[in-house]
Amino acid sequence: MDIQFESSLQAILAKALGDVAQATNPSELEQLRVHYLGKKGELTQQLKQIGSLPPEQRPLFGDRVNQVKAELAGALNERKIALDSLALEASIARESIDVSLAGRGKATGGIHPVTRTMQRIEDIFVAMGFGVAEGPEIEDDFHNFEALNIPAEHPARAMHDTFYVDSSHIKKTANNAHESHLLRTHTSPVQARFMLDSKPPINIIAPGRVYRCDSDVTHTPMFHQVEGLMVDEGISFADLKGVLTSFLQQFFEADLSIRLRPSYFPFTEPSAEVDISCVFCTKGCRICKHTGWIEVLGSGMVHPEVFRHVGIDSEKYTGFAFGLGVERLTMLRYGVDDLRLFFDNDLGFLEQLQ
Ligand code: DAH
Repeated sequence: MDIQFESSLQAILAKALGDVAQATNPSELEQLRVHYLGKKGELTQQLKQIGSLPPEQRPLFGDRVNQVKAELAGALNERKIALDSLALEASIARESIDVSLAGRGKATGGIHPVTRTMQRIEDIFVAMGFGVAEGPEIEDDFHNFEALNIPAEHPARAMHDTFYVDSSHIKKTANNAHESHLLRTHTSPVQARFMLDSKPPINIIAPGRVYRCDSDVTHTPMFHQVEGLMVDEGISFADLKGVLTSFLQQFFEADLSIRLRPSYFPFTEPSAEVDISCVFCTKGCRICKHTGWIEVLGSGMVHPEVFRHVGIDSEKYTGFAFGLGVERLTMLRYGVDDLRLFFDNDLGFLEQLQ
């Protein structure tokens, strides 16, 4: 083949291979491809000179140009693969995650200590065969007071600072009772509702929120109680003592003893405050006020007047009832000394009791 053509092809190829080797990104490579191999590219132009060659040299020259084009195309391709893999490595390095970094952490919620105590109380009584009953938080005068032997003008009403819901509608009825709605001041109305609906034997507890218009270091306007009621033929004070001793021993997980002190509630006769032997000390501490005893709940034998209101024959049936404050039991169990902590929603406090 013509020496001159061959050397100019060689020169173009050498220059092109040098350019390809120096290209640093795919778009430069593409420009080089157009520049050398495109329709108007340098090598394509070379083919156009084929007409000036003697006919016998033309096939040879054509083959030679195509060889050079193929060589350059191969070089472009290789360089493209190399650049792509460099780019991939760079992006992998850029996007890599440092798995040794500490995570942000996930805060998990917990059950409020008062709720936890309620569940604990329910579990213990359910295991002893009690059912769980509920009643409305907005009550009427009859169930909250009348049926529980607390008639209008009864001094015991003064012990309950009642929130009336619709005081503008308070009407005096024929028998002088107030016909009004109120936020229940205790869970005892659930006793009355349950006895109106079912016949003995009855053994239930009734946990729930109660409300009193009272707020200071030891009182909050809303708090929780659990009521208990057992009614059947032949239920005695001994049953009351047995059930409450067993409950309190399980609740405090201690072999404690209980003491019954005479007391007064309009809906029980006789009535008793229940004390437990101090679970914090053996010879007197701040919590038992150096007496060795801690008051935990109120109780008594259901008053015949209550049975009369709910239509249960008090000649045939007897029963006992009790009511306990859930916040108080929670404070004793977890050693919390300020009632208001339960209602502040301070996470620092709540997390300690999870
Ligand atoms: N209802 C009473 C209160 O809120 C607590 C109570 C005491 C309930 C004695 C009872 C009971 O059932 O027998 O203070």
